[in-house]
Amino acid sequence: MVRRMEITADAEAYPLYLGSGLLAQAGAILREEGLAGKVLVVTNPTVGALYLAVVVKGLEEAGFAVQTVTIPDGEAYKRLDQLTKVYDAAAVGCLERDSVVLALGGGVIGDLAGFAAATYLRGVRLVQVPTSLLAQVDSSIGGKVAVNHREGKNLIGSFYQPSVVLSDLEVLGTLNEREFKTGLAEIIKAGLIGDCDLDAFLRTHSTVVRERQPEALLEIIARACAFKAQVVTEDVRERGRRAILNYGHTIGHALEAETGYAVYRHGEAVAIGMAAAAAISVEMGLATPDLNQATIEILQLYDLPTTIEEGISAEQLVARMAWDKKVKDGHPRLVLSPKIGDVVVKDDVPMEVILPVLRRMGAV
Ligand SMILES: NC(=O)c1ccc[n+]([C@@H]2O[C@H](COP(=O)([O-])OP(=O)(O)OC[C@H]3O[C@@H](n4cnc5c(N)ncnc54)[C@H](O)[C@@H]3O)[C@@H](O)[C@H]2O)c1
Ligand SMILES: [Zn+2]
Repeated sequence: MVRRMEITADAEAYPLYLGSGLLAQAGAILREEGLAGKVLVVTNPTVGALYLAVVVKGLEEAGFAVQTVTIPDGEAYKRLDQLTKVYDAAAVGCLERDSVVLALGGGVIGDLAGFAAATYLRGVRLVQVPTSLLAQVDSSIGGKVAVNHREGKNLIGSFYQPSVVLSDLEVLGTLNEREFKTGLAEIIKAGLIGDCDLDAFLRTHSTVVRERQPEALLEIIARACAFKAQVVTEDVRERGRRAILNYGHTIGHALEAETGYAVYRHGEAVAIGMAAAAAISVEMGLATPDLNQATIEILQLYDLPTTIEEGISAEQLVARMAWDKKVKDGHPRLVLSPKIGDVVVKDDVPMEVILPVLRRMGAV
């Protein structure tokens, strides 16, 4: 059960493999895709303990010379001093232009190793092996790589496309429930803003999806990836259409920041953001109230939050939104929805509309 999809970016295409048992085949697949020589595997201790050995074995059997570097687990380590470790390993191991940096892990490892690959020798080959659901449907596709700065997330980054992406469905079995659900939120988003069939599938197959049945996962991950890939292909450098992927994110980011990144996983904040976006769409007269209802229904089906934790100030959230980098002329840029499967970007949503919606959802 392996699917190979082509993703186009910057007039070039790269393959995305999706299926079960891909980790063991990584070496053979990379060979087939024309890669050879040295591979520097970047991982963290959590993912490394589970999956590094099988990846390294497959790579070595396929004739690659493998080195590894391990970065501590967590968003807090997606930073410059950890990046230096990757450069050190690359330099000591004498990586060359056609050598490979392979990111084995969630979005943190993917972003950090990706930025290392983009910058070492002005660019070596990058292979993404995303192991979290969020990384499989979001961060491994689209070519954005970055590390954080203490003044903000992802401030130091670049656009850099991988040579190959390998998404193994089996690894999702060891992901904890909360991480699994944070990835599901992005998949639900893809359905809500662009793929009605995905949305319908998620509504009718929630049991098998939540049980992580491979066929169901293959279906929803492939659809979410195809949707993101299509949007990104049209706007690789994030100048226009790509903004629609931020559905639920302006308010979601504000919630994450306002709570010090300690209360919500990204997908949970985005779920609340999507519920808010639907309610604002209704308030603005863009959508009928069933959109609101249908949005809440699908989020609840996957046990994602649709209300705001007690004690969070609506005004503070709005102030945070104004700081979000997607702000235009002082008005937060909000992605709204007229109906399931469709979106509009609005720069003129008044605070008088946003504030009551946030308060109704639990903000003070
Ligand atoms: N580049 C992009 O376009 C893009 C898009 C979305 C998010 N991101 C970035 O992605 C990051 C979030 O990614 P994430 O949610 O994957 O977080 P993460 O990388 O921190 O992974 C979440 C947790 O799951 C663990 N894990 C990963 N795979 C596992 C597995 N198979 N089994 C058991 N545990 C596993 C990790 O060790 C970690 O503890 C953020 O830094 C965000 O900025 C980037
Ligand atoms: Zn997101």
